[in-house]
Amino acid sequence: MVDVTADAGPDLADLPGAVSRTSAFPRLRYMGSKYRLVPHLAGVFAEVGGTSALDAFSGSGVVSYLLKALGYQVTANDFLHFPAAITEATVVNQGVTLTAEDIAAICGPAADDRDFIQRTFEGLYFTAEDRRFLDSAWSHVDQMTGAKRAMAISALVLAAARKQPRGVFTVTGLRYDDGRRDLRLPLRDHFRERAAGYNRVVFDSGQPCAALTGDVFDVGPQAFDVVYLDPPYAPPRDDNCYIKRYHFLEGLSTYWRGQQIMPQTRTKKLAKRYTPFSYTRTVTGALRRTLAQFRGSVIVLSYSSNAVPDVATIETLLHEVKDDVQIRPVEHTYSFGTHAAARRRTAREYLFIARLRTQRSHCPLPPGTKPICWPGLGRSSLPGRSVRTSDVPVSESGDAWGDTGGFAFNAAAK
Ligand SMILES: C[S@@+](CC[C@H](N)C(=O)[O-])C[C@H]1O[C@@H](n2cnc3c(N)ncnc32)[C@H](O)[C@@H]1O
Repeated sequence: MVDVTADAGPDLADLPGAVSRTSAFPRLRYMGSKYRLVPHLAGVFAEVGGTSALDAFSGSGVVSYLLKALGYQVTANDFLHFPAAITEATVVNQGVTLTAEDIAAICGPAADDRDFIQRTFEGLYFTAEDRRFLDSAWSHVDQMTGAKRAMAISALVLAAARKQPRGVFTVTGLRYDDGRRDLRLPLRDHFRERAAGYNRVVFDSGQPCAALTGDVFDVGPQAFDVVYLDPPYAPPRDDNCYIKRYHFLEGLSTYWRGQQIMPQTRTKKLAKRYTPFSYTRTVTGALRRTLAQFRGSVIVLSYSSNAVPDVATIETLLHEVKDDVQIRPVEHTYSFGTHAAARRRTAREYLFIARLRTQRSHCPLPPGTKPICWPGLGRSSLPGRSVRTSDVPVSESGDAWGDTGGFAFNAAAK
């Protein structure tokens, strides 16, 4: 199934180019986003090679986009709808952009008199004018199809996320205002800027890609050379419910069609989507099942030191399906809060590479591969150091789960 040879694989010679391209990816503030780990992930993917890759928990879409930039045939999957809209627009789409006329139409007068968003979310999110814009924009989006529609939905979703305090819809009302431009800009203007941002990252990789909306256990049965796993591990405290935080984006991406709003909730959120990865009782079994499902592929797995199960258990689970398991630790310092007393905490991200000895890539980095620059990261060498679990100091303090890949931290390859 897996035939990782010297000829197959991503375009190693242009690794810095792929990372640089990915740095322009429109940034969605998303719990667990691996935006900051892109240079490290690029190094790992380049090391493992292969032609086809699955990003099984695609979230913000940044890793799927990196895989496309590296030259893989990418399949992106997430059980929410808005991640699929984003990967449909940026990964599957190889050339369609929103024209000035498309953007003007979406920002112009409404094509019909729909008012679902205005009625349902009055007094909860955004201004009356912003909500009117969202209904009106959708009256045009509904006339679009394919990649154009996905581009428009992605720009609407990102506009709404940027305008909402901290990007999460657990808070309502307009009281929170720290003066940032993003919170004051009308959604219509946000949309124009976000549309331009998505237009800038459309490119033709020459490789067919796909975007799926579904449970990870329903992916298959096709074989992938590389499978990237970044599940929502169970946090020891708090919860990691994506619907609770991003229900408005999920609803907006489908105009709430086929979605069930819980009318009695203060935030008018959608019904919770169960996932076994989010509970300490079920996460280990879910991981074991996922690893067995993709046992034929090289597995690259992200893991944070704040999660359950612990790092040793993860390694044991990987050894159940692979005889060659490596760990690359990446140190982060997270900043929490916006005030001066914001706590700084250290959490550790791990990248596991699990394969059979026979799946070892024969395509090392080309001589002279340059260090990669990444906004906020400084310079990072590739590839990361390879260590055994016993070498890795585990259990850093703090709970970075709520803002993994947050917006104010430094990371360095160990
Ligand atoms: C840690 S996030 C992935 C972040 C992503 N790698 C990024 O860089 O933005 C985990 C994702 O898994 C998705 N998810 C949770 N349970 C799932 C399941 N059973 N099947 C598919 N996707 C699932 C969530 O919707 C969420 O987007």
